[in-house]
Amino acid sequence: MRLIFLGPPGAGKGTQAGFICQRFGIPQISTGDMLRAAVAAGSDLGLLVKAAMESGGLVTDEVIIRLVQERTDDPDCVNGYLLDGFPRTMAQAEALDEAQVVMDAVVEIEVPDDEIVRRLSGRRSHPASGRVYHLVNNPPKTEGLDDVTGEPLMQRDDDREDVIRKRLETFHAQTAVLSSYYSGQTNSGPVFIKVNGLRPIDEVKADIVGRLERL
Ligand code: AP5
Repeated sequence: MRLIFLGPPGAGKGTQAGFICQRFGIPQISTGDMLRAAVAAGSDLGLLVKAAMESGGLVTDEVIIRLVQERTDDPDCVNGYLLDGFPRTMAQAEALDEAQVVMDAVVEIEVPDDEIVRRLSGRRSHPASGRVYHLVNNPPKTEGLDDVTGEPLMQRDDDREDVIRKRLETFHAQTAVLSSYYSGQTNSGPVFIKVNGLRPIDEVKADIVGRLERL
């Protein structure tokens, strides 16, 4: 099972990717999580991408494409994987096509911009595992702590309102086009699944799992 998750920042890609990867036994490849780990470690990659991430812009295609190629070559990807946050530009989608990677499905989670700002300003996450919470919609069992490890939850640097608005602008300018790119591939391309992300988390999950199980 090879999957792509599309959708604006805060649509619920990371939240749903966690469920789907557990259900189908595949790794979640989140370019955002990989880049944040590099920034936190202060590696060369981290220094290279920090400014773009903090401003709500995109990291260059060249860097991202190489990062994903290296990760998908790892042995745990042999039975498939879920790409969360990649591709994000037409050049990235074309790189995937050129590598002749056969994707089974593209899942697009649709959420309007107004809801995004509310969601992202209440988001808290556990950086080591990628688990995501929301102060109101999906709170941890104990305030401020991860349910599994009990470690403190963090607020992302790019979840400030000004950066959220810039990320939304970037999404509409460079990423939204991928919806028509994949939905237009009716014959040989991946199955295109569009879901309404405004529903409660469990309903969105049941919808995605049900439609993937029918593939
Ligand atoms: P990345 O980490 O990928 O961020 P993003 O796409 O902006 O997505 P998010 O992680 O913010 O949102 P999400 O859809 O995963 O939502 P979540 O499940 O957390 O990228 C960060 C940066 O890295 C980019 O800005 C860019 O600079 C760089 N980058 C990454 N990939 C790149 C690429 N390919 N090319 C170039 N640059 C790249 O949910 C959000 C909140 O809502 C949570 O609090 C959650 O609990 C809550 N929630 C989820 N679902 C629901 C629901 N149904 N109802 C109510 N609340 C919900």
